[in-house]
Amino acid sequence: MSSIKIAVFASGHGSNCRALYEAIISGKLNAEIGLIVSNNPDAGVLTWAKEKELAHIHISSEQFDDKLQFHHALLRHLALHHIQMIVLAGYMKKIGLPLIEAYPNKILNIHPALLPSFGGKGMYGEHVHKAIIDYGAKITGVTVHLVDPEYDHGAIVMQKALEVSENDTPQTLAQRVLALEHQTYYRALQLFAENKVIIKDRKVFLSRNI
Ligand code: GAR
Repeated sequence: MSSIKIAVFASGHGSNCRALYEAIISGKLNAEIGLIVSNNPDAGVLTWAKEKELAHIHISSEQFDDKLQFHHALLRHLALHHIQMIVLAGYMKKIGLPLIEAYPNKILNIHPALLPSFGGKGMYGEHVHKAIIDYGAKITGVTVHLVDPEYDHGAIVMQKALEVSENDTPQTLAQRVLALEHQTYYRALQLFAENKVIIKDRKVFLSRNI
């Protein structure tokens, strides 16, 4: 069974990163976390990575004179760790073109709603769940998609839905969606590990004969 070496990019707590790690440990995901990248020096995910003795770096464009230097440094780290795919897990920075070009169709993101609804600039974390409740949507869910230059726009790999209840607050909804994210992300990534993903005309198809 093939295995892929991934870098997980996270800005906060990193529960999705931990769920991926657990899926690897329990044999549900054939991947190796080669590097954890955070733009936030205080991110919980970095403390956790240290505990688990996983390679990790704090790197952000603010540490460099310009974006080009930042991307060069980041790409150098990814190459040093032989990273094959990038997995965004609550990474609150836009992914720049140099990264997208270096990893074509190899950057995944998880979004806490059913795209193309409730996505785009400013739609992250609790803002998403508040917008869903304010709109009165009855269904929400999670979307795993490939990253392209536009926010929350790349080809969709997997979606799972759940019902919004009348008693939900942005916080209760966030909790249930996050639990669903943990059940979904490793499954989407496993499709790549098994080489099952075919991308045609900006759409994802699954190969049936593998
Ligand atoms: C997750 O809900 C993830 O979908 C969301 O941030 C949270 C991170 O949680 N990402 C976005 O909103 C990106 N647009 P975590 O740090 O516990 O994994």
